[in-house]
Amino acid sequence: MSTDQRYDRIGHGYAELRREDPRIAARIRLALGGAKSVLNVGAGAGSYEPTDCLVVAVEPSQVMVSQRAASRTPVIRALAQALPLRDGCVDAAMSVLSIHHWAPHAEAGVREMRRVARGRVVIGTIDAEVSGEMWLMAEYLHEVAALDRRIFPPIDVIREWLGPHTEVVVVPVPADTTDWTLMSFWAHPERVLDAGARAATSGFARMTPEVVQRVVQAVRDDLRSGTWDERHAELRRAKELDVGLRLLVSRETRGSQDRH
Ligand SMILES: C[S@@+](CC[C@H](N)C(=O)[O-])C[C@H]1O[C@@H](n2cnc3c(N)ncnc32)[C@H](O)[C@@H]1O
Repeated sequence: MSTDQRYDRIGHGYAELRREDPRIAARIRLALGGAKSVLNVGAGAGSYEPTDCLVVAVEPSQVMVSQRAASRTPVIRALAQALPLRDGCVDAAMSVLSIHHWAPHAEAGVREMRRVARGRVVIGTIDAEVSGEMWLMAEYLHEVAALDRRIFPPIDVIREWLGPHTEVVVVPVPADTTDWTLMSFWAHPERVLDAGARAATSGFARMTPEVVQRVVQAVRDDLRSGTWDERHAELRRAKELDVGLRLLVSRETRGSQDRH
């Protein structure tokens, strides 16, 4: 299955559990600067698209497109690595938690975003070295930690693709986030026991039933026996945690790139 078709299989029910977190949305809007037109690549159901400016959304999966609210902008069905848009036609381009699905075309996708945006390019992604340290990956789900290290382009590599004027912003995930990514599980071990919550994360959705069953059983046992709380009591009280979510913000403009 090609990566762009994966969400036609795993994307059902996505919009219900992956509702954008307003605090993360505010950080993304800030990163986009004063952009009045924004391209969103791998737009999915529309999470994190600004609502105060013109948005052009690109998304390959019909299942994801069908979950967009009627108020969201219509979608161009296309791939990051071949954007059917002319050079410099939007102020800024963004992409959230999509770049790890673009292999082997991730660099080409970033180049396309840079080509189409006159100004900022903002990429939300995961630093797999940091997310791999979260209890779920470190103690129960090594397979996802290993997979993430393989599929998420390293932060320094994306920074190189974006150019020298790129800032890396750490985005802590709030305990009460409405966006139930796998990272959000840091504060909610009970979510591991919830089949719907698991299915809305590509991490769990890409594991074999045997691996999922093993992890569910182990977490259930550790919750029942109190072992999980003995090890991680402080997480029940924390308000937010750095679990690897990063925003790469390129302030390079097309003009300045041409001058290199
Ligand atoms: C985890 S979802 C993120 C959706 C949305 N950005 C969000 O934050 O909720 C990843 C999205 O990337 C899309 N995708 C996969 N391969 C792609 C590609 N080559 N080009 C553009 N989008 C792609 C998937 O169809 C899916 O909708």
